[in-house]
Amino acid sequence: EKVYVNGKIVPHQEAQISIFDRGFLFGDGVYEVMVQIGDSFFYGQEHLNRLIDCLKKINLDFDVSTLPKEVEKLLVASKLEGKDSLVYIQVTRGVAIRKHAFPKTTKPTVIMYAIPFTLPSINQKSIATITTTDNRWHRCDIKATSLLGNVMANDQAAEQGMYESIFIRDGKVTEASHCNVFFVKNDIVYTHPADTYILNGITRQIVIQLCKKLHIEIREEAILKVNMVTMDEAFLSGTTTQIASIGRINNHYYSADGTVGPITKKLQQAFLKLKE
Ligand code: PDD
Repeated sequence: EKVYVNGKIVPHQEAQISIFDRGFLFGDGVYEVMVQIGDSFFYGQEHLNRLIDCLKKINLDFDVSTLPKEVEKLLVASKLEGKDSLVYIQVTRGVAIRKHAFPKTTKPTVIMYAIPFTLPSINQKSIATITTTDNRWHRCDIKATSLLGNVMANDQAAEQGMYESIFIRDGKVTEASHCNVFFVKNDIVYTHPADTYILNGITRQIVIQLCKKLHIEIREEAILKVNMVTMDEAFLSGTTTQIASIGRINNHYYSADGTVGPITKKLQQAFLKLKE
């Protein structure tokens, strides 16, 4: 496997990052995950725009305008030109002697890799989830590489054979460890507002657009944990998850046999059309 490190494409065994890289020492960096379907990126510009936004939010001065060309080179080197694949991009604040305050003259470190990845046609089956306390910091709108809160929560789900961990902050559902969360009640779709407590997922934004297009009422309002069990349907959204029906949260089942609810199904079908 070839990887990209600061303008060079090398076999991953030969790639080198300094142990003084602030991404390594502090998690001082941001990242993106996007997928190529055939020969174009699925909402690629939106992913790049979010990267620009996040860089700005952490005061990291890096020009992303050269990235699309570099991604193309990486895809060619990885023999993934025109093939379904996943691209990971990470920009950190670079290499400096370990001091908390930002170094003034360091050059950002950019790494990327591309791997074959085919999005499943759509998840027919509902998935199982648990809830955990949202122990993360208060700037979840920043797609930071420091994901300890997320990986700890997801591992807790995995240990119980579940797919995702749904975060609860102050009694409200925020999002999940690597997905956004939606609920449906009386044909109205609910999701947490895009404030600093969630990552404003690109897939989340697509779902909101699809609701509007399909004349399904959408409200960006947080659902209380105690009201989760009163909802008709629940689903997750994310780049690799797409739209996945939630069949179970803890010991509550939305449907006994794991069937996908009607609104979730409608949105999944409309989402599938976008990929054509
Ligand atoms: N996860 N919330 C969190 C905390 C996420 O990490 C992600 C994405 C999402 C969904 O965002 P999007 O629809 O733009 O993928 C929501 C990526 C895929 C990951 O870390 O692998």
